[in-house]
Amino acid sequence: MSMAAETSLARSLDAIPASVREGRPGVWLNPDLRPAAEFVPTLAFSLADVEAAEARWRRFDPLLRYLFDDLETGRIDSVLMPLADHVTRSIAGPKGGAVWVKADHDLPVTGCIKARGGVYEVLVHAERLGLEKGLLRPEDSYARLAEAEVRDAFAAHTVAVGSTGNLGFSVGVMARALGFSVEVHMSHDAKAWKKQRLRDIGARVVEHQGDYGSAVAAARSAFEDRADAHFVDDESSVDLFLGYAAAAFDLRRQLDEAGIKADAAHPLCVYLPCGVGGAPGGVTLGLKLLFGDAVRCIFVEPVASPCMLVQLAAGLSRQVDVYEIGLDNRTAADGLAVAGASMLVAATVGPLIEAVVTVTDADLFAWVKRLWSDPGLRLEPSAAAGFAAVRPYLDATGTDQATHVVWTTGGALLPEAEFQAALARG
Ligand SMILES: Cc1ncc(COP(=O)(O)O)c(C=O)c1O
Repeated sequence: MSMAAETSLARSLDAIPASVREGRPGVWLNPDLRPAAEFVPTLAFSLADVEAAEARWRRFDPLLRYLFDDLETGRIDSVLMPLADHVTRSIAGPKGGAVWVKADHDLPVTGCIKARGGVYEVLVHAERLGLEKGLLRPEDSYARLAEAEVRDAFAAHTVAVGSTGNLGFSVGVMARALGFSVEVHMSHDAKAWKKQRLRDIGARVVEHQGDYGSAVAAARSAFEDRADAHFVDDESSVDLFLGYAAAAFDLRRQLDEAGIKADAAHPLCVYLPCGVGGAPGGVTLGLKLLFGDAVRCIFVEPVASPCMLVQLAAGLSRQVDVYEIGLDNRTAADGLAVAGASMLVAATVGPLIEAVVTVTDADLFAWVKRLWSDPGLRLEPSAAAGFAAVRPYLDATGTDQATHVVWTTGGALLPEAEFQAALARG
């Protein structure tokens, strides 16, 4: 083991800054950041894995096009949206550089980034099961999976997941569309409308008294030995991770179309809201594979739930949660209300994460309101996190000559009353 890795393993809670323990917003620059060219080749995942995920997505285009009215091409992707100069200035300051929005808050089918992983994992499962049971042949159009014979066979199988809400919905919508039974385990205090939305699509919702992490753990053990079920593990699924990673191809295509170039002197700073870490971690893997260090991935977490920051600062010898440093994991950003980060993500892309910025709920609500008034983005609080992080990151690093991509991660399907309540707190 290298000396850097040993130091990282031996580190402890002492390495977590006082401001983080005190729940103050700030910027944590990763002391273990490694050059992509050096670290990426050591990873268990390669570009070929992410290309294979992308190829699988494309095999499913005909099926997704058939199943979902809002998918003309079959591609679950969002636009890359430029912002007007005055909006850019309010986000990045007068000299901050251009700000673009990767608009996954409006992602077709589910209105959130978690579709990239959750829908993908259901597709992996359906493909595997279909081929195994002779319901699908490799040469078939995958639209075949929408036929009654296949749906009837899938009805005997359950797809289960533990979720703060948006992963459950993404998995639920896709699995129900294919005829699977769906069971979603959620914490008691997860948003009521997110639970109802799942029941409305025919999913069984199981509520747990504890937090999101205990809901995931309970679901994992309930489904351990079930041959008739597939458990989507938000904390450690490789399929989820690769589904998210494939988003890098979408962004690269859109950057090319917009004529945006990135290199070490003109970096692309990508701001990613982080809950358990799967979505931002997968995207980071994909982006680092495609862009190397021309891209900087900045994770954003609520001050009460900075689980990835805490894990990376403390080192990887054991899982550390935010309760251990006196934080309560209570945030209005329900998608980010996660006490303990995914160890798969921390170990895989930890050294590729440039910084973690922590933000207050008050800031999130203020950004939800500001971005609704101009340019009219309908965001849930979690999805506004990236906007709150740009200025602090620039101030802390003195970065200039950068292009910023703020990844908005959910909100288009927020019920009107929920959205109005969020606006009222802004
Ligand atoms: C709206 C929103 N943004 C960001 C995230 C973060 O994703 P992850 O938990 O994979 O880090 C979530 C997770 O549910 C979410 O719902």
